[in-house]
Amino acid sequence: MFNADELKKLFLSDLNNVESENQLSEFWKKFLSKQGAVQGLMANIKNVAKEEKKSYGQFVNDVKNWAQKLYEEKKAEIEKAALNARYDLETVDVTMPVDIQTPGNLHPLTTVKYEMINVFAGMGFEIFEGPEIEDDDHNFTRLNVLKDHPSRDMQDTFWLTEDLLLRTHTSPGQIRVMDAEKPPIKVLVPGKVFRSDSDATHSPMFSQMEGLVVDKHITLCDLQGMLDEFVKNMFSDAAKTRLRPSYFPFTEPSVEVDVSCFKCGGKGCSLCKGTGWIEVLGGGVVNNKVLENCGIDSTKYSGLAFGIGIERITMLKYGINHMGKMFENDIEFLKQFKA
Ligand code: DAH
Repeated sequence: MFNADELKKLFLSDLNNVESENQLSEFWKKFLSKQGAVQGLMANIKNVAKEEKKSYGQFVNDVKNWAQKLYEEKKAEIEKAALNARYDLETVDVTMPVDIQTPGNLHPLTTVKYEMINVFAGMGFEIFEGPEIEDDDHNFTRLNVLKDHPSRDMQDTFWLTEDLLLRTHTSPGQIRVMDAEKPPIKVLVPGKVFRSDSDATHSPMFSQMEGLVVDKHITLCDLQGMLDEFVKNMFSDAAKTRLRPSYFPFTEPSVEVDVSCFKCGGKGCSLCKGTGWIEVLGGGVVNNKVLENCGIDSTKYSGLAFGIGIERITMLKYGINHMGKMFENDIEFLKQFKA
């Protein structure tokens, strides 16, 4: 049997102790659910005399409404407290310093390669990429580097089989382009090349950018004109080139190309070792034998070619003095090249 006064007292003291949403739902079960105490009070009606049933029912209803109202108030209070607690927990201090996830940046070699491509693309060059594994024929023989020719000693080659090798330069790209296309030809062949060589300025793998132009009346002057444009864009407006006689089997005449020192303007400094000039690439007029090896009539057409070391240009541009830096992937080094 439930006594209404005791029930009210119990209700109030229990309600007073409710502090969380969990406790609130326990409380609701105990007093206000179908199995709860208030309902029990209602069930008691069967023991009430017939004529009192109506007023008893009314009385229990009042108790029920009273309890429901207090419960609702408590519920609102608990919910508000829970919400406030969540606000406190999730408050964002907009003045806190942020740990920004910085996006990566291009490797300096890639940046310089793109810059070089841009300059030559402006002169109408197209891009061709050849395979890194080449055969003797493309890498040497048809470039006029004949078997037993001493110039083969110039290349310290990684041979894979008797015939296959890791290309030692991007020049075999010339052969592949001339096999595939008729003149006029104007291509750039960027790519990795491999030589058995390693010290402060050499690495077994490095990158080159080959250039080849084949058309009527191409001369060494065209080569110098294009390279002047190249060094002006890459180094400084005041930069110019100087050609020195050299030797490559695939060009005749062959030249070594120097750029006027962009650091001292030609007066002489540590970068140019006091000479005012820095060697940047090799080139020349395509040897007629190479044209003929590719079925191009050398009485009608002539060509120019050049090969540029991309690491060398990158190291010069940024004042990097060790080749290893180009490949170590040292994040602190690479971060400095953020655009
Ligand atoms: N292939 C040469 C090397 O790797 C560079 C070179 C020189 C390329 C003269 C050329 C050229 O196309 O005409 O050292």
